[in-house]
Amino acid sequence: MTGDRLIHGVRIGGRLCYPGNMAGIRPACLSDASAIADIQVKTWRDTYAGLIPDRALLGLSRTSHIENWRRILRDARADSITRVAEGPDFCVVGFANAGRARPTNLPYDGEVYTLYVLPDHQGAGHGRRLLVALFSALRAAGCKSALVWVLAGNPARFFYEVMGGTLIATREEPFHGVILSECAYGWPDLRRHIEIRTQASDSSG
Ligand SMILES: CC(C)(COP(=O)(O)OP(=O)(O)OC[C@H]1O[C@@H](n2cnc3c(N)ncnc32)[C@H](O)[C@@H]1OP(=O)(O)O)[C@@H](O)C(=O)NCCC(=O)NCCS
Repeated sequence: MTGDRLIHGVRIGGRLCYPGNMAGIRPACLSDASAIADIQVKTWRDTYAGLIPDRALLGLSRTSHIENWRRILRDARADSITRVAEGPDFCVVGFANAGRARPTNLPYDGEVYTLYVLPDHQGAGHGRRLLVALFSALRAAGCKSALVWVLAGNPARFFYEVMGGTLIATREEPFHGVILSECAYGWPDLRRHIEIRTQASDSSG
């Protein structure tokens, strides 16, 4: 026999995942600012060496990143979404941040601004779970769609393809005296990626 337990799942890239506080994903709090800044600086240096000018990487300041994240987390509005991924020892190993799409001519209302997982913890599913959590929170904040901008030379773009995003735009952006090529991946209908499933379970009365 079957019962009535509700399981909320998110189908992304053909796979059912579970958002929210499951699997070590939780909303960021003010005390996460320094861990988030550390991950951002470390992952930037690991990922962007050779893709962006060395001076931009050398000039990264942990202190100013901490201040910036403190401000973001302290002033968090309802549509400013930051989630962290915890490893088995409850250390923060990744984070992601999203909100209203910055102005473009693209018909997308939500945007993933950042998504970083520490190099030693990549490939363990944290990126997928963080993106699922962001999509779920964007939907809750009233966004119907989402996009992300990524450097064209960053292999992370293929992660977004695996996650069901489609290439929707490219642009050239000035950065520290050079022009960088970026591409945007989009999820035009977040609702289509979100499934509310009623999972039957044994009913014993
Ligand atoms: C991109 C990033 C967030 C992915 O996070 P992750 O935890 O390593 O990814 P996951 O383990 O959740 O992988 C989910 C799926 O994406 C695939 N994937 C991940 N990175 C990939 C890549 N570079 N190319 C192709 N597929 C990739 C995985 O194989 C997995 O697919 P599967 O479930 O079918 O096996 C992480 O690698 C990262 O932080 N990279 C450096 C920072 C960066 O560039 N961030 C994006 C800035 S826009």
